[in-house]
Amino acid sequence: MVMKIKLKDWVAKQPKAELHLHIEGSLEPELMMSLAAKHGINLPYVSIDEVKAAYDFHNLQSFLDLYYLGASVLLDEDDFYQLMFAYLQKCREDNVVHSEIMFDPQTHTERGVGFEIFMPGFVRAMQQAEQEWGQSSLLIMSFLRHLSEESALQTLAAAKNYLPHIVAVGLDSSELGNPPQKFARVFAHAKALGLKRVAHAGEEGPPAYVWEAANILDVHRIDHGVRSIEDANLVEHLVVKQIPLTVCPLSNTKLKVFEHMSQHNILTLLDQGLLVTVNADDPSYFGGYLNDNYHALIEHLDINQEHLKQIVKNSFIASFLSDEVKQAWLDKLV
Ligand code: HPA
Ligand code: ZN
Repeated sequence: MVMKIKLKDWVAKQPKAELHLHIEGSLEPELMMSLAAKHGINLPYVSIDEVKAAYDFHNLQSFLDLYYLGASVLLDEDDFYQLMFAYLQKCREDNVVHSEIMFDPQTHTERGVGFEIFMPGFVRAMQQAEQEWGQSSLLIMSFLRHLSEESALQTLAAAKNYLPHIVAVGLDSSELGNPPQKFARVFAHAKALGLKRVAHAGEEGPPAYVWEAANILDVHRIDHGVRSIEDANLVEHLVVKQIPLTVCPLSNTKLKVFEHMSQHNILTLLDQGLLVTVNADDPSYFGGYLNDNYHALIEHLDINQEHLKQIVKNSFIASFLSDEVKQAWLDKLV
């Protein structure tokens, strides 16, 4: 008991990186309601408590429906600034010194809100956090896999003037029935533009989707990837290539990938030599930011300080920071 409290305190104070975070999933009910009021948008909630009560999910799709609804209150540049700045403030509280933040352009462009509105809002908040607190962050542009290849290609074209602010492309939304293969040409195009690549795979989808993300999309990291464990050859491939998994414990239990945190396979993944990281995914929907995710693991698994040290180290190793900056952070870890 005392040991768990000490571990929680220790991990909370460590400098950490976060690599799997959807900015739209950090929209807290308070900000959602105030932006809805500001823009005269009718949401099907009358109170903050009602919003929170609605966050009772049984799978990925049941979450995504409310996540896209919530994002509908984001309309002007300042909304996106506020959203980003609120997340970066949480990072500061959690000692997250570097974050790689996904955004879903199509969630906004489909509503007539373009890159010229959300990008300046995001970048303004990120530059402020860097200047005021020395906190670094990078942006990952994620394509919605339930939409067409054509829509993703159009989105990549629309991002043309903003590419200096974008480090990588990603792939999210409804996984089952939308295999990575569907976006082979989009990711090849992104690679040719000099962008790095990540993709959600093996969250609800089978190991075959993780293989496709690795072999066809040529990704640098797999987001989630917890179902990789079902295929020993895949695990070996990910270990040999040191392709990181960005694991999100509270997300996985909220969306019933695992029924209970005590059943989470992160320690098995780690013991098999996988480069595992811990992340919050959509913190306002899943009940916690980065330290809450570490704390849930400490509470429910037999995780020790050596495991935690490795995971924190991995968060920098798996990042898109330069080798010099990575090393500087690794040297700071005790
Ligand atoms: N999985 C797929 N799509 C998403 C997620 C996720 O965890 N969060 C936001 N979009
Ligand atoms: Zn995610």
